[in-house]
Amino acid sequence: MLLTCQSSHQTYAIKTTPHSLSSLNKTSKYLSSSLNSNNTTMALCSSVIGFLMCFSLCFCCALATAKFEDMFQPYWAPDHFSFDGDAVNMKLDNFSGAGFSSKSKYMFGRVNIQIKLVEGDSAGTVTAFYMSSEGPKHHEFDFEFLGNTTGEPYVVQTNVYVNGVGNREQRLNLWFDPTKDFHSYSILWNQRQVVFLVDDTPIRVHTNLEHKGIPYPKDQAMGVYSSIWNADDWATQGGRVKTDWSHAPFVASYRGFEINGCECSVANSDADNAKRCANIGGWWDHPMLSELNVHQSHQLIWVRANHMIYDYCSDTDRFPSVPMECEHHRH
Ligand SMILES: *[C@@H]1O[C@H](CO)[C@@H](O)[C@H](O)[C@H]1NC(C)=O
Ligand SMILES: *[C@@H]1O[C@H](CO)[C@@H](O)[C@H](O)[C@H]1NC(C)=O
Repeated sequence: MLLTCQSSHQTYAIKTTPHSLSSLNKTSKYLSSSLNSNNTTMALCSSVIGFLMCFSLCFCCALATAKFEDMFQPYWAPDHFSFDGDAVNMKLDNFSGAGFSSKSKYMFGRVNIQIKLVEGDSAGTVTAFYMSSEGPKHHEFDFEFLGNTTGEPYVVQTNVYVNGVGNREQRLNLWFDPTKDFHSYSILWNQRQVVFLVDDTPIRVHTNLEHKGIPYPKDQAMGVYSSIWNADDWATQGGRVKTDWSHAPFVASYRGFEINGCECSVANSDADNAKRCANIGGWWDHPMLSELNVHQSHQLIWVRANHMIYDYCSDTDRFPSVPMECEHHRH
């Protein structure tokens, strides 16, 4: 059999660093924030509790903070890509959009990408960053960034598909201008919850409510994707503002590609992968990651109070009877 669970980094030095962690609290913070450098990894490793998790990180599961081409490949319009140092640019023009996908599929873990969205007039464009499995009963976790006219705010739409059914849109505006600089967008996925994060601030939690009879996505391996395309039939102000092609090309930039998860072999069935990834003792299954910590819960409350502009859970025109999971979700 192939070794199906590999580390992209062969070895890690485990030693104390100036950032050495001293308390559980800090470990929790590091666990739930991105493991975005060897330093962080070493810091995590140097804490007592981190040691066990480091064991699984280093020797068990995919740990990748790597170059674009190590983890991803263009799947749509390779000629609409350009490379600029660490950054990858993808453009939309009147000929085509573009997209990239991960080379591997994963079950559980954390995916993080830094994105700098289309500057200036981005009306009509959508840039998406998402995880998805395949097939009619697929699962999907979406970030969609809806462009706007110059100076007007981007909208971030998130959605969760379970067994092929979405219709779980939420919309937010951001507390910064996402076109001025790179910001981190992450998805944490384990057997208890799916968390969407912006710069490590949780903006959405999809909780496992299987005990209430509600299906939860944890049985299909997912790829990681991003794309940019023209969606001027719906994206900006409900489709009223069209893409102004005289402002093309529309360019989104990416860097800081990280996938820390249970890598799945296509040679194995979903059932085998699910069993292995659920029982591997991955860091993502640590009890501290089974729900938001107190600080994160407060952050989410703040985001929802100050930045949420749409929540399917409160759209009674669309859903006269409140979707089941909304009744049970804490937030
Ligand atoms: C695309 O845009 C360019 C520049 O505005 C224009 O010259 C060209 O005709 C357009 N092509 C199509 C297929 O619309
Ligand atoms: C674009 O800007 C308008 C006006 O500020 C705002 O109402 C809208 O939500 C923004 N975003 C989109 C995607 O339409």
